[in-house]
Amino acid sequence: SSSIDVAVIPGDGIGPEVVAEAVKVLQKVADDAGLGVSLTEYTLGAEHWLTTGETLPDETLAALRQHDAILFGAVGAAPGDTRIPSGLIERELLLKLRFSLDHYVNLRPSKLYPGVPSPLAAPGVVDFVVVREGTEGPYVGNGGALRTGTDQEIATEVSVNTAFGVQRVVKDAFRRAAQTERKKLSYVHKHNVLVHAGHLWKRTVEAVAADFPEVTVDYLHVDAATIFLVTDPARFDIIVTDNLFGDILTDLAAAITGGIGLAASGNINMDRSAPSMFEPVHGSAPDIAGQQKADPTAAVLSAALLLDHLGHPELAARIGRAVEQDIAGRSELGPRTTSQIGEAIIAALS
Ligand code: NAD
Ligand code: IPM
Ligand code: MN
Repeated sequence: SSSIDVAVIPGDGIGPEVVAEAVKVLQKVADDAGLGVSLTEYTLGAEHWLTTGETLPDETLAALRQHDAILFGAVGAAPGDTRIPSGLIERELLLKLRFSLDHYVNLRPSKLYPGVPSPLAAPGVVDFVVVREGTEGPYVGNGGALRTGTDQEIATEVSVNTAFGVQRVVKDAFRRAAQTERKKLSYVHKHNVLVHAGHLWKRTVEAVAADFPEVTVDYLHVDAATIFLVTDPARFDIIVTDNLFGDILTDLAAAITGGIGLAASGNINMDRSAPSMFEPVHGSAPDIAGQQKADPTAAVLSAALLLDHLGHPELAARIGRAVEQDIAGRSELGPRTTSQIGEAIIAALS
């Protein structure tokens, strides 16, 4: 269509700083292409909870559902902040959005751009995508604590894996793998120990693989996957894994490809029964918030994923090229502010 309707949730900490740049870039490429953009900002997050006591009211969730997509910054308090119970905002806002809007594919591309210093001496060509399951696993909140605060306390956090949930994300990962040049799928779990969930994943991958004979399948236990992400990240093409393993692997993936400030993600509802949500992999970074020190590139690339999802791959690619060009020149530049990087990306649009 000739216009898109985007909800914007800047959030806490560096969220508003990086989202401001992503919005500028989004607006610029849309304007140039004659694509209308309607932006509606929603004030949510830890700060909002402190002043109102609201996390995600039902009316707000209902309003968010009406948009084509959501651009999200980051939420959450500083880990040591005692005014907010740890996990409240994460669970009641961010995870509530991912679960309610059925974001079952958490897409996290990882690419080592030319010119980016990697902490690895010889990383090789690093260009892979993690397909992280987004609605199940240990994230669902299935657990509890008994005898809290006593020496007899028992705390459980039960990982929920359904055949439906595992199948749909595994199928999605195979479809993506079938479209890459290398056609390689690595599935990561820990089925040597987590035999109940792990075997469901294993059987599911084996069953779906039969429909994709062109895809080479490789399995790694998650601990070994962390080794290879450091020693041989070029071996990966598409990685599919559960919610918690995917969370951990994608911070590591960001670190080896130039840092968390570059890592974008999409929380995607592939059935399009609700809007998908695009956000940097990083959090609210309280240690650098409000100082214009955050790199907005991850947020900008998340806006590109949003455009791609809404059927504008050429606009997404235009942002990708500008980011690539900006990144290539970074080593010659000194430190830049968040908005200087945003402006430079806009200037690099070609
Ligand atoms: P974090 O990602 O916020 O920060 C980790 C480190 O990376 C910090 O040193 C930070 O300064 C740096 N960093 C992060 N983004 C950066 C950027 N764009 N440019 C430069 N440096 C950047 O992780 P954390 O400290 O574990 O979490 C802080 C808060 O954010 C917590 O409340 C956490 O729950 C929340 N969190 C939210 C999301 C989200 O909203 N999607 C994601 C992760 C963490
Ligand atoms: C991420 C974050 C979230 C996650 C938290 C804040 C709930 O770490 O988006 O990677 O674990 O998914
Ligand atoms: Mn994370």
